[in-house]
Amino acid sequence: MSGSPVISVKGLTAGYGSRNTIADVSFTIEKGEILCLVGESGCGKSTILRSLFSSPEIKITSGDVILDGRDLSELSEDDRREYCSEKMCMVFQSPGASFNPIRTYEKQFTETLKSHGKYDPATFRQKVAEAFAKVELTDSERILKQCPYALSGGMNQRVALALAMLLDQGILLCDEPTSALDATIQLQVAKELKRLRDECGVTMIVVTHNLALARYLADRIGVMYAGRLVEVGAYCDLLCHPNHPYTRSLMAAIPSLDGKMPSGLPGQPPLSGPSETGCEFRDRCPCAVQECADKIYTLEKVHDSHYVACCSNGEGGSI
Ligand SMILES: Nc1ncnc2c1ncn2[C@@H]1O[C@H](COP(=O)(O)OP(=O)(O)O)[C@@H](O)[C@H]1O
Ligand SMILES: [Mg+2]
Repeated sequence: MSGSPVISVKGLTAGYGSRNTIADVSFTIEKGEILCLVGESGCGKSTILRSLFSSPEIKITSGDVILDGRDLSELSEDDRREYCSEKMCMVFQSPGASFNPIRTYEKQFTETLKSHGKYDPATFRQKVAEAFAKVELTDSERILKQCPYALSGGMNQRVALALAMLLDQGILLCDEPTSALDATIQLQVAKELKRLRDECGVTMIVVTHNLALARYLADRIGVMYAGRLVEVGAYCDLLCHPNHPYTRSLMAAIPSLDGKMPSGLPGQPPLSGPSETGCEFRDRCPCAVQECADKIYTLEKVHDSHYVACCSNGEGGSI
C-alpha cells in the first residue's frame, strides 16, 4: 500500500482528568488497512480509539493526530469533534454507548443518517434490512420499532455494526466488536468487517483481546502494554516472529489446534498506567536485565514495518 497515511499518530499521550493512561503512542495507517490493537485489559487500547474519535472525556496531553490530511490540534474542540464524526464511525465496546437506550432504533437510525446526509426515505427500510442481514439480524421491522434497552448486549452490538455499515464512512474504529457475540455470529461479523475493507476500502482500527479475531482480520497488529505500544508490525511478522517478550507470551496464549493448553502469563499488567521510569513489563519478563529498571524503551525498527520497544531483540528467555 502507498500514499500518505489516512491516520498518523505521533507521540500521543492522553488520559482522563489529570492522569495519563497512554504515553508516546505512534503509528500510521494507510487507506484500506486494518490495524488490530491487542493486549490485556487495562493496557489503553480503548483510550487510543477514544482519543482518535475526540471523545469528550479524553484529555490529550501531547502528541499529534493527523486524520485524512488535517492536523487535529489545529482545530477547536467543537470543530475537531465534528470533523472526526464526519470522517470516522466508532462502534463502542459497550453497545449502550452507541445508542440512547430509550429511543427506538428507527428514530436513532433516521437521525444519524440525516445528520450525515445519507437518509433517503424511499430506500431506508430496504437498506436497513440488508445491513441487518449482514450481521445475522432478521426481522428488521420489529427491531426498528424497539429501544436498545429491550435488546441484549450482543443484539445491540450487531445493530451498532449495521449502522456503521449504513453510514459507510472511510474510517471505522471498532472496540471489541465481537465480544458480546457467540462464536458463529462472531465469524459472520468478522467476515463482514473484512468485506467492508475489501469491497469499500474502509480503513479500520479494531481493538480486541481475541487474538483469533486479530489473526483473521489484521494486516498489521499493534501490541499495547501499560499504556504504551510495545510492538507493531505486519500480521505475519508478529505471529511468526514476535519480538517483544510480551508479544511472545500473548502469541503463546493462542490455543493451538492440537488442543495443547496455552502456557499463559502469570501476573497482571500494572493499573497505574504508563511509567515514567523503566519498562513496565520487567517484573513479568523472562528477559529483563538491569537497565530495564531505568530505561523506557521506544519503538525501534526490526525490519521493514516491524518495530519493537525492548532491549532483548527477540532473544532469550523462552516463554
Ligand atoms: N472513563 C474513564 N475514566 C477514568 N479512567 C478510565 C476511564 N476509562 C478507562 N480508564 C482507565 O484507563 C486505563 C486504560 O483503560 P482502557 O483504555 O479502557 O484499556 P483497554 O481498552 O486496553 O482495556 C485503565 O486503567 C482504566 O481504568
Ligand atoms: Mg477496552
